[in-house]
Amino acid sequence: MEEQLIDIKNAALSLILDAKDKAELEEIKLQFLGRNGTFTLILKDLPKIPKEKRPAVGQLANSVKITISDAIDRQNLKLKTEKPKQQKDVLDVTMPGHKPPLGHHHLITQAISEITAIFEKIGFTRVKYPEVEWDWYAFEGLNFPKDHPARDDWETFFIKQKPDPKKGPVILTPHTSSGQIREMERVKTPPIRMLNIAKCYRRQSDVSHSPMFHQFEGLVVDKNISITHLKGTLDYFVKSYFGANRKSRIRPYHFQFTEPSFEVDVSCGICLGRGCKLCKAGWLEMGGAGMVHPNVLKFGGINSKEYSGFAFGWGVERVLMMKEGIEIDDLRLLYSNNLDFLEQF
Ligand code: DAH
Repeated sequence: MEEQLIDIKNAALSLILDAKDKAELEEIKLQFLGRNGTFTLILKDLPKIPKEKRPAVGQLANSVKITISDAIDRQNLKLKTEKPKQQKDVLDVTMPGHKPPLGHHHLITQAISEITAIFEKIGFTRVKYPEVEWDWYAFEGLNFPKDHPARDDWETFFIKQKPDPKKGPVILTPHTSSGQIREMERVKTPPIRMLNIAKCYRRQSDVSHSPMFHQFEGLVVDKNISITHLKGTLDYFVKSYFGANRKSRIRPYHFQFTEPSFEVDVSCGICLGRGCKLCKAGWLEMGGAGMVHPNVLKFGGINSKEYSGFAFGWGVERVLMMKEGIEIDDLRLLYSNNLDFLEQF
């Protein structure tokens, strides 16, 4: 009888270990420990065993029973916690395919494309000029007197290189206005309708400033260009980019390279000019503009008696944030490559 008990235990254990689910384990339990189970039936022969052997056999029978039911419990637990086995690679060509994740342009790139399209429609040409530039193009040729304190506003990065005797030190362009003289030199005889969109660099870094940012600069030079052309262009841009319900206005300001100079405002998109928490009494500042200073035309080789022009320079990030109404707490988020943020656009 001892041998039979051991056989029963071994048979039960091997079946339990192969069991695939709970139902199968239930069946095994019935098969061995159930009312008509192998184990139960064999126990019925216990009284036939000589008296003195009975306690030992009884003990063995008990431990076999415990071993079997423990094994069933353990296998049950294992099946519950085990991950389903991976299906083998099966290619079912009738199944719909997995969609690959679709990327899109960064929102600054989207804004640059949109701004370019708007100005190209009215005859502007997009140009590209060096980011590492001579002082002459960024300051001197734009009518900044030498060592004028206004240069401090631009907080320029200087490149360690011997200054050029004529063009001065080498710097990183602090504004896209440095493209103005270069464009005059390239075109030589107006008309000029330039759109210069580029990276700019300034020593600044806080929640609303980053050392690298983007500007877009317009320059128009032709005969009889007046402030009305500037105002018309501003209005056209503001309505095309922000929406037909937005307005622009110009306020007197001062820049070295334009005379007269203006600050350009756009009516607030939230309160539509009535005044709210977001804006200054209904208006948001967009950037600078003005009529090209005669000295700048002269430095660019253009006769200021015959030609006049207007210019404007605004921040891409700035107009982007004014448009979307996205309240970004920290501008630097735009450069962080944080997908959770970028995927929203
Ligand atoms: N370059 C100026 C800046 O970075 C902006 C600017 C002002 C550009 C007046 C212009 C202009 O073309 O006419 O702050």
